[in-house]
Amino acid sequence: MPGALIKKLTITPLGNFIGAQVEGLDFSEPIPDDVAAELRAALHEHGVLVARATNVTDETMIALGKKWGPLDNVLAHIKAGRRMRFEHLPEIFDVSNLDPDGNIITKDDPVRTSSKRGNTLWHADGAYNPRRSGISIIRAVELPPKGTGGQTEFLDSRTAYEDLPDSKKEKIKSYVGMNTLLWNRRLANPDMPEFDLDFTKVPLSKHPIAQIHEPTGRGNLYIGSYNHHIEGLSIEEGRRITDELLEHVTQEKYKFTVHWEQAGDIAFWDNTAVLHRAAVGEYGEKYRRDMRRISTFDDSKWAWGANDPATAKQVGLT
Ligand SMILES: [Fe+2]
Repeated sequence: MPGALIKKLTITPLGNFIGAQVEGLDFSEPIPDDVAAELRAALHEHGVLVARATNVTDETMIALGKKWGPLDNVLAHIKAGRRMRFEHLPEIFDVSNLDPDGNIITKDDPVRTSSKRGNTLWHADGAYNPRRSGISIIRAVELPPKGTGGQTEFLDSRTAYEDLPDSKKEKIKSYVGMNTLLWNRRLANPDMPEFDLDFTKVPLSKHPIAQIHEPTGRGNLYIGSYNHHIEGLSIEEGRRITDELLEHVTQEKYKFTVHWEQAGDIAFWDNTAVLHRAAVGEYGEKYRRDMRRISTFDDSKWAWGANDPATAKQVGLT
């Protein structure tokens, strides 16, 4: 059939609603365009894909991501003063528990501790930016011993949206969430006074909380720990509604967990269809967990939310 994808991958659903295993990916050669397109289509359908024991590298992960659009990068964070392990590869987001010198982060490093803790709260990558993230790829380079935590958890925010009563969908359809990375840091680090801020005065990015997932036409609930309040409502009312929606979407039935098995395992997810977080665990300050991520910028019509691309700036934090 003209235009149809040539089937080169095996996709096996794993979870209740989201999550599937992908087999047939070979990173020893550049991923061909038709395979990248097939992978992207599967990702939009299943929300999360997992491939085991691949031979992916930082460079091949970046090359695949670039086939799906421009990549987000850490340049704004570097500009804000953060040291990175991979300054030569600014497309790589270091989501390990390691400092720039490769040592395990301890509480003596409050900057990295606050960021690591923030990762354990539900979010969609880049929601705090004016142009949000689309697809993320995470790669396991070094894992803590099994049973010590560090798995990656996902929520099916499309089915959660669809399950809302019609009256609720009607109520939230025009709500715009006001997002900041600092609210995630505040929630995750109540012991750090530097995040005790007036959140009406920090820069906020605006993204509607009820959206259409463009590739599938399904509804999606776009909320998480960056979402501080809702435009036009009182802070209290915005928080109440956000918390109520978070309670709904975090129900066990919407959850899918990736248990990391070995180096070379990778997961792909669609930030415009699922939420995610890193599970906490005793590995924390004891065992090395080296995970690296890249993210594309979303290219749907929802990418910029209610933000003005002409004046927008990517957010950077130390
Ligand atoms: Fe993330």
